[in-house]
Amino acid sequence: MASTKVAPGAPPQQAELSVRDERTGKSYAVPVSDSAIRAGDLKQIKASEDDGGLLSYDPAFLNTASCRSAITFIDGDRGILRYRGYPIEQLAEKASFLEVAWLLRNGELPTQEQYDKWVHEVTYHTYVHENIRKFLEGFRYDAHPMTMLCSTVAALSSFYPTAKNIYDPAERDISIVRLIAKVPTLAAFSYRHVKGLPIVWPDNDLTYVENFLSMVARMSEPKYESRPVFTRATEVLFILHADHEQNCSTNAVRAVGSSHVDPFSAVAAGIAALYGPLHGGANEQVLRMIQEIAHPKNVKAFIEEVKSGKGQRLMGFGHRVYKSYDPRAKIVKRLADEVFAEVGMDKDLEIALELERIALSDDYFISRKLYPNVDFYTGLIYRSMKFPMDFFTVLFAIARTAGWLAQWEEMLLDKEQKIARPRQIYTGHGERDYRSALIHK
Ligand code: CMC
Repeated sequence: MASTKVAPGAPPQQAELSVRDERTGKSYAVPVSDSAIRAGDLKQIKASEDDGGLLSYDPAFLNTASCRSAITFIDGDRGILRYRGYPIEQLAEKASFLEVAWLLRNGELPTQEQYDKWVHEVTYHTYVHENIRKFLEGFRYDAHPMTMLCSTVAALSSFYPTAKNIYDPAERDISIVRLIAKVPTLAAFSYRHVKGLPIVWPDNDLTYVENFLSMVARMSEPKYESRPVFTRATEVLFILHADHEQNCSTNAVRAVGSSHVDPFSAVAAGIAALYGPLHGGANEQVLRMIQEIAHPKNVKAFIEEVKSGKGQRLMGFGHRVYKSYDPRAKIVKRLADEVFAEVGMDKDLEIALELERIALSDDYFISRKLYPNVDFYTGLIYRSMKFPMDFFTVLFAIARTAGWLAQWEEMLLDKEQKIARPRQIYTGHGERDYRSALIHK
């Protein structure tokens, strides 16, 4: 789902849509507001007295707005992304991730005092209960870190039972702080578990991003110092991934949260949704695809296979909303240049550049408006930082936790929202008598 074309902050446009039902000859006036009609208004349109009313059918929500939201604005045709009105380019260049996380939730940039308090709270809630570490030990050495992250975030719900008091603002505050603070710790623990390394507890002297990198990479050194280019790259990538309006995982968080479950459980649902290869899992798939291609000379043949529909899709290309270059992909490409200028050219970057060059000049991709998305280059950056491929989506999840929580709270406080419960068009059998083929004892 994308934002409608209504400029954010503009007064609602009021108009009417005239609908004539040729089945009955009746006419209806359906109010139009913010370029949308309410699907509920179609219910009055009935073919007969006992008809339940007209439904709108929209598998995968291709043309359905599920909420009103003031958090993130996307114009997919013009390649625009803004958080609370601020262009993503400015935030990526100037803000810190925690400043953006505050902005997403609160709607305004923090004052210095608010920011300092926020950073302090997040920093001092990075530790997790010792039993969580023991819980992680139960996973196999080859467990995917996304499954570990999903399970441990869900498990946190049992450590904070009062988090279910979701209409208590103080409980929401502390749950949001806890989640933003602890998700990097759980992510780093899952990394260390797979590597067979002892866990590194948080270092409260470091910034949010530095502390995360320390928990991932620190060995015997008394104080971990990350390379500034890696710290900066991680900060920027976290900002770019922090929110993206009603994407699959955010929709999952809102839908699950609409049952009034606690936010730890709702965020665990978001992590599960993000894990899929068509969503957050795409950055991992991009790199696997590049490795399979193996050499720039194989790119042409690979693209032909994609176009034939017989092989896989061109991972990292295409987007439900962006029908031009994803604005995040432009920033990531520049960031990749900065990182590679310092750590040396990655051989796979050459394949990626060739893929992009050929795809952007091919009619198949042009006619379908398929451009590189944010995931096309992120994997290459993460790999140059020595993150294993299956950890890429975990990095995405750390950042998106900020957006999920802002969206979850907005949903809870929205008087129009109820438990998410779509309708269906039943296509199965009519009533029939039970005749079992089993031998009943
Ligand atoms: N490679 C080749 N063809 C594609 C691709 C692609 N990456 N993406 C879409 N198409 C084709 C598709 O086959 C269809 O062609 P046709 O009309 O001939 O049947 C047409 O383009 C429209 O595709 P769609 O599946 O109806 O589009 P969608 O909006 O449902 O899918 C998407 C969006 C992101 C799932 C899809 O573009 C895709 O699978 N991309 C690759 C996976 C990827 O990079 N995902 C990350 C998305 S960005 C980060 C995030 O949100 O998580």
